[in-house]
Amino acid sequence: MKNTLTHQDKFNELQRKNEEALLGGGQNRIDAQHKKNKLTARERIELLLDEGSFEEIGRFVMHRCKDFGLDKEYYLGDGVVTGYGTVNGRAIYVFSQDFTVFGGSLSETYAEKICKIMDLAMKNGAPLIGLNDSGGARIQEGVLSLAGYADIFYKNTLASGLIPQISAIMGPCAGGAVYSPAITDFIMMVENTSYMFVTGPKVVKTVTNEEVTSEELGGASTHSTKSGVTHFSCANEVVCIQTLKNLLSYLPQNCEEEAPRLPYQFKNKNAELRTTINTIIPENPNQPYDMKEIIEAIIDEGTFLEIHKNFAENMIVGFARLAGRSIGIVANQPAVLAGVLDINASTKGARFVRFCDSFNIPLLVLEDVPGFLPGTDQEWNGIITNGAKLLYAFCEATVPRITVITRKAYGGAYDVMNSKHIGADMNYALPTAEIAVMGAKGAAEIIFKKEIEEAENPSEKLQEKVQEYTTKFATPYRAAHRGYIDEVIMPEETRYKLMRAFEMLENKVVNLPKKKHGNIPL
Ligand code: HXC
Repeated sequence: MKNTLTHQDKFNELQRKNEEALLGGGQNRIDAQHKKNKLTARERIELLLDEGSFEEIGRFVMHRCKDFGLDKEYYLGDGVVTGYGTVNGRAIYVFSQDFTVFGGSLSETYAEKICKIMDLAMKNGAPLIGLNDSGGARIQEGVLSLAGYADIFYKNTLASGLIPQISAIMGPCAGGAVYSPAITDFIMMVENTSYMFVTGPKVVKTVTNEEVTSEELGGASTHSTKSGVTHFSCANEVVCIQTLKNLLSYLPQNCEEEAPRLPYQFKNKNAELRTTINTIIPENPNQPYDMKEIIEAIIDEGTFLEIHKNFAENMIVGFARLAGRSIGIVANQPAVLAGVLDINASTKGARFVRFCDSFNIPLLVLEDVPGFLPGTDQEWNGIITNGAKLLYAFCEATVPRITVITRKAYGGAYDVMNSKHIGADMNYALPTAEIAVMGAKGAAEIIFKKEIEEAENPSEKLQEKVQEYTTKFATPYRAAHRGYIDEVIMPEETRYKLMRAFEMLENKVVNLPKKKHGNIPL
């Protein structure tokens, strides 16, 4: 029989299918998703993007697999919603995995849709956002699915350093699927409804006989505190998407651009003085203080976005604004483990420094570090290789780099924490700074050992020698005499000095020797 469908009929038929596709896997599965305190793929996109800005790409794509009864036409779009739009007026590309269609599992066509979006993001120089909620490889598609994952991993790597890539984990993310988010720049997880692991609790039980829940093994809390896999742990999906939008506001669109700068009205030096800093650092060098108070007193009010907040808390990293300009902050935290550098703190800092350097975000280092953490645990787990990551990351960074030494800058850690010698542009010290090979007491005990032992009152002698050493060596002035410190500044003028120095460094250009790429100690 002759096909009598008119053009309008065909269009209506497609629209009908399209309407059904909007429901993804159907109302029952949407209800199930909501019952788990999860939003649908499209609801998440709606929350993320500016109203009315989303343009979908690939809405009519269907999976090709005819095995195991997977021939239903119902699932138009095939388990992932992809497209582009704007966040606060700036372009982004997005894919949102739809758990209501085959558990959001990844098929051949699904991967093609994601790759298409990734190519567009790279060609047009705008961030790629992945909203993840998936049962992993679509089992019925076998190697086609595995190939699809590998295509995505490859493009994630090509996009790395070119455009910012952010992954929000809003449901399951298991098996090899975890490696796409792992390659991206930032991972955010939603507490209690998302998890990430390479092998799940059942396999763990079989292989190691450990009993562990999904949440314990790979929930947001685990990855934000123990493994450091996730950069943000968010109370719910709304908080997660708000945080994602906030994060984007500190980033440029791509590696060729600068991060957006907010207007800032500079009045005069006096208006930029912050006297609160004068009382934060205790006189006793062994007494801790909270470096976050120093950060808050330097930056534009309330602009600190901490990354990796609950992981390796002896090191603080995050974005902030200074006179409206986006900066990356790397700081030792004397309130946790005295701010010592250990394996986790080093890798945390190194990854952040490399991100900032890739995307033209100037770096501010606030230093109060007693050295590297001693012990068999650290040595056997590779503090040498891991500490070198932070050193390497600073050495190769070409963005404007400024250091302020607030108190201790001891030993190798002095060199590593963005010292002048490894390419920092401006190095300041507060009068409380102690730049030395080690703390005064340890140093006095070694170099004045004989004198102390032979003294009538050894403990009095030790005190005297500690004082002598402190005055002679553990001050910022020896370094300042050599030009290793550009200026010793009063705490209250730190903000002002940094504003001026970052402005001075605005047109910094560094030409590194030409090579394929370096070999960071991984
Ligand atoms: C096809 C899948 C699927 C998958 C889930 N579904 N995972 N379909 N392939 N991988 C389907 C289910 O059949 C079900 O369909 C719907 O999605 C919802 O799944 P439920 O099990 O009902 O949901 P829930 O109880 O919330 O459990 C979610 C889950 C579970 C924990 C993700 O579905 C699960 O364990 N899935 C398998 C996970 C897995 O082993 N994946 C492969 C990992 S290896 P109906 O029609 O009933 O609604 C991997 C390798 C990647 O991913 C390699 C990269 C290199």
